[in-house]
Amino acid sequence: MTDLPSVKKTWSGVRTPRPSPVDADTARVRAEQLKAQIARADHRYYVLDDPELTDAEYDALVRQLQAVEAEFPALRTPDSPTARVAGAPSERFRPVTHRVPMLSLSNAFSDEELAEFDSRVHRVLGPEDVPYVCEPKLDGLAVELVYVHGQLVEGATRGDGSVGEDVTANLRTIRVVPLALRRPEKGPAIPSRVEVRGEVFLRRADFARLNARREQEGEPLYVNPRNTAAGSLRQLDPAITASRPLSFFAYEMGGWGEEAGTAPFPRHAEKLAWLEAVGFPVNPENRTVIGLEGVRKSYDAFLARRHALAYEVDGMVVKVDGEDARRRLGQVSKSPRWAIAYKFPPEEARTKVEAIEVNVGRTGALTPVAFLTPVQVGGVTVSRATLHNPLELKRKDVRVGDQVFVRRAGDVIPEIVKVIDSVRTGTEKEYAFPDHCPVCGAAAVMDEDGAILRCTGLDCPAQLQARLQHFASRGGMDIEGLGDKLAAQLVDSGLVKRAADLYRLDLPTLTGLERMGEKSAQNFLDALERSKRPPLRRFLYALGIRHVGDATARALADHFRDVRALYDADAEALTRVKDVGPEMAKVMAGFFSEPQNREGIEALLAAGVGPQPPEDTWRGPFAGKTVVLTGTLAALTRDQAKEEVERRGGKVSGSVSRKTDFVVAGEDSGSKLKKAAELGVKVLDERAFLDLLAAAS
Ligand code: IVH
Repeated sequence: MTDLPSVKKTWSGVRTPRPSPVDADTARVRAEQLKAQIARADHRYYVLDDPELTDAEYDALVRQLQAVEAEFPALRTPDSPTARVAGAPSERFRPVTHRVPMLSLSNAFSDEELAEFDSRVHRVLGPEDVPYVCEPKLDGLAVELVYVHGQLVEGATRGDGSVGEDVTANLRTIRVVPLALRRPEKGPAIPSRVEVRGEVFLRRADFARLNARREQEGEPLYVNPRNTAAGSLRQLDPAITASRPLSFFAYEMGGWGEEAGTAPFPRHAEKLAWLEAVGFPVNPENRTVIGLEGVRKSYDAFLARRHALAYEVDGMVVKVDGEDARRRLGQVSKSPRWAIAYKFPPEEARTKVEAIEVNVGRTGALTPVAFLTPVQVGGVTVSRATLHNPLELKRKDVRVGDQVFVRRAGDVIPEIVKVIDSVRTGTEKEYAFPDHCPVCGAAAVMDEDGAILRCTGLDCPAQLQARLQHFASRGGMDIEGLGDKLAAQLVDSGLVKRAADLYRLDLPTLTGLERMGEKSAQNFLDALERSKRPPLRRFLYALGIRHVGDATARALADHFRDVRALYDADAEALTRVKDVGPEMAKVMAGFFSEPQNREGIEALLAAGVGPQPPEDTWRGPFAGKTVVLTGTLAALTRDQAKEEVERRGGKVSGSVSRKTDFVVAGEDSGSKLKKAAELGVKVLDERAFLDLLAAAS
């Protein structure tokens, strides 16, 4: 490790500054150290586009420096990185002075820091609830677009906030950046001059495509969408920028009119609407909320959807909605007091590769795995990361002893993003792949393109063990308690040779295993019992058929509804299943025609496993609806009618209210029918009810 400062962890690996040094001399030394580290990080990030600190580490350094400077204001020299917005404009581009400086945002890393922001706002605006706009914090590059009489005349990066770089030609290549503004139907007319600010970024899918192309062309891969977007925009040749699928969202304005006045919008939300009206893409995720509680809810919602968004976000920007309120709040140093970036837990961390080993998977593939110095990423401790396959290991050139960035996004297996080669010492060791399976000792052979190293042992226990663990996994049969150790014991002892054997285990056999108490044994048996009624899709997934992941298993289950129906499906029939291509269909047909596999499935069924066909999908007219039954129906009893509605995803309630969707009125319906009429609830007679039932079955 280089001399990274010691930090105190709060949540999810986010650091807050440790208490600053007590005496002025120590403080000065500390500040100098921090300044040097920050300057180096800025250079690597902005100039070389090759960072060696994670964003979280960088933020931590700046915050520590801020803390030292807060205690010893004399140390706050003009050259301090806290006194400017990082991002020295490169000399390769013509400098552009922003008419109105482009501010940066201060950060909140915890709920308390968010609450502090909100109280500062209230201190100025008074006790009343404050409307805020919450916007995803796009992880890209801020730019300013200048429109004169509605025409794009200039575009610049933020640079240091006062002076940016002229990247007009490059910005013009971005398809969603309007070259001319549309006349808005509502609101103020387009002024003689206006500066629009927003973020240039890359969508995840575009980033992946770009990298796939690079890979084909044998070029080194890009590390992350953010740096790639920044690098793409700061190209001297606009043709290169044009070949990168950059995106843009507008989110603020600089000066309005000749005098660089403030835009004539009482609320930020109206400003956004205007931007949209004149032709800018505005993030549809932006939300107006009320008060701190509203912000918190919005944050939780964004955080939960973080990985569902098409682009990377590293937090949420909280902005006071009222423009007048913004003016009253003003700014401190280079950040407005009316906005804050409420960061998400970082998904990247830096750590060291302690060792590399291979793991034998259920198909016999030997997957290289890096063992790491444990580190907090995205809220969990990560101590292992997959290197996928030998090619990947070679491409990333990961060596034992290397400093690396690891990334863990959502439920994805942690991955090594990049080796920080600038800190290599020369003592790092390359990993040599074994030529024998480390588990069964059979020869390990590499396929032609060097992408997969496979164990050739037919009875390799590691493969069986991995298959069993996959079988028991959460997305499969969900059998709690079948961890590495127990799976290895069951395989090594010969008690389990295939999945069905699990269901034949009993208490005496299990307690006979080493370190297995009666209680855990019973728990495991209970878990097995509970697993016997899985949805068909999970059962199919659990079988571990190559190419059959969660989505394919679901599609198969929806299509065939019964596992035995798959025995007779040939490749042709399988290609009719959603998203199944010919190659996949061949593998699947091969799996189900193999007698050994069918026997394995039959053995499971015989052991009492009963996969459940998919529930009918609730899309019909009763899905999620509340129905009230009244009077007597000729064709159905009350209970039968209730059951029919419920089978179609509806709910039957006893009394009519505004929440009722339909009232089904048979013979002799009384007060409920009257109530329905009063409330304007839709009434179905028996005929209409039966028709709807038929339509929805
Ligand atoms: S508003 C003073 N809105 O975050 C307000 N910024 O440190 C300044 N960013 O330079 C910008 N998404 O690169 C704003 N919805 C959003 C944003 C956003 C990302 C970035 C932008 C800016 C940095 C602030």
